[in-house]
Amino acid sequence: MTQQTHTVTVHLGDRSYDILVGRGLISSLGNEMAARLDQGASSGRQALVVSSPEIAALYGAAVSQSLESAGFQVHSALIPAGEQSKSAESVAQLYQALYDMAADRRTVVVALGGGVIGDLAGFVAATYTRGLDFVQVPTTLLAQVDSSVGGKTGVNFGSAKNLIGAFHQPRLVVIDPDTLRTLPPRERRSGLAEVIKYGIIADKVFFHLLRREINGLLDLTSEHLASVLAHSCTLKARVVELDERDEGLRAILNFGHTVGHALEAVTSYRTYTHGEAIALGMVSAALIGEEVGITRPEDTTSLVTLLRAAGFTVRLDASHSLDEIVRLLAWDKKSVGGSARFVLMEQIGHATPAHPVPESVLRHALQRQTAFTL
Ligand SMILES: NC(=O)c1ccc[n+]([C@@H]2O[C@H](COP(=O)([O-])OP(=O)(O)OC[C@H]3O[C@@H](n4cnc5c(N)ncnc54)[C@H](O)[C@@H]3O)[C@@H](O)[C@H]2O)c1
Ligand SMILES: [Zn+2]
Repeated sequence: MTQQTHTVTVHLGDRSYDILVGRGLISSLGNEMAARLDQGASSGRQALVVSSPEIAALYGAAVSQSLESAGFQVHSALIPAGEQSKSAESVAQLYQALYDMAADRRTVVVALGGGVIGDLAGFVAATYTRGLDFVQVPTTLLAQVDSSVGGKTGVNFGSAKNLIGAFHQPRLVVIDPDTLRTLPPRERRSGLAEVIKYGIIADKVFFHLLRREINGLLDLTSEHLASVLAHSCTLKARVVELDERDEGLRAILNFGHTVGHALEAVTSYRTYTHGEAIALGMVSAALIGEEVGITRPEDTTSLVTLLRAAGFTVRLDASHSLDEIVRLLAWDKKSVGGSARFVLMEQIGHATPAHPVPESVLRHALQRQTAFTL
């Protein structure tokens, strides 16, 4: 049976690229790359496939075979799974791999994995000989709808996330929903938080589709799965096209992330997945929006109902220290002049950035969320 492939083009002038979404696409990766990279013919062109041992065991052979049959000389580098691999040491390891294979300006770096592999490999591609072609083959839901699109790459340094980074757009993103079958259910749900976020900030009709399809999206049986992934990429792409370098509008993608990041930090990144933290953070943002008169309570209810249906916790754990959260927000890069800035929901499908929120309002909203009974 021929599966439909969705194509989303990210329009960024000479940095434009396609995102392809379709079942089984991994096996046509080589041809899709050869058709798009400069000089057409890929013959003799080297490719470094960056992955982690677990993901390579699942999908590495299919990717290598596809690249080889399209004429690429394939090398691979394996990085241990986990956020700690987004490090300067891993960058050095990948520079070494490129150096050892005598990479030249025609060498292409392929990221096969989740956001950790994508951010790391992308940064290496951005910086080795001032920029190599880069292709993303994201294998987590989060990476398929978020991190593989938009060109932000980077690694952590000290205790700071993404402190070292570069903008480097991929030349192609290939999303194969079949790879999600091996992803643990908790990771799948986590990625859906970003999908729900897109509905909230940019598309009411999409939000309602998610309400109808949420169970099928969680267990991957929904016939809309590929189109939901593609539409999520489209919504992110439209924002990135207007603000590639994150100087304004792109901030709306941070809906739910201000409190979400603080929750990840106060729990030392151990308690919540990223999606679980931003699900809580989206509810905080909705309650803050109510307090400042921007968000209608019925829209908060719609958001909470969908998050609950997806299996997310929406009540804030009272054991978290509000003082600690508030202190962290003061350091958050979105805070200016003492009051943190929040992306707030004006209605389902429409959010606006940069609302200054006084500490007292923030505290009151978070208090309400710890006693949440909706
Ligand atoms: N660049 C951006 O714009 C951007 C946006 C959002 C997040 N991020 C970054 O993304 C990272 C998180 O990405 P993530 O959530 O994909 O986590 P991840 O890359 O750590 O992957 C999560 C886990 O799933 C495993 N895995 C991946 N694909 C699998 C598959 N198909 N089957 C089975 N297991 C699989 C991984 O080995 C890992 O253990 C963070 O570092 C974050 O900063 C970047
Ligand atoms: Zn996020």
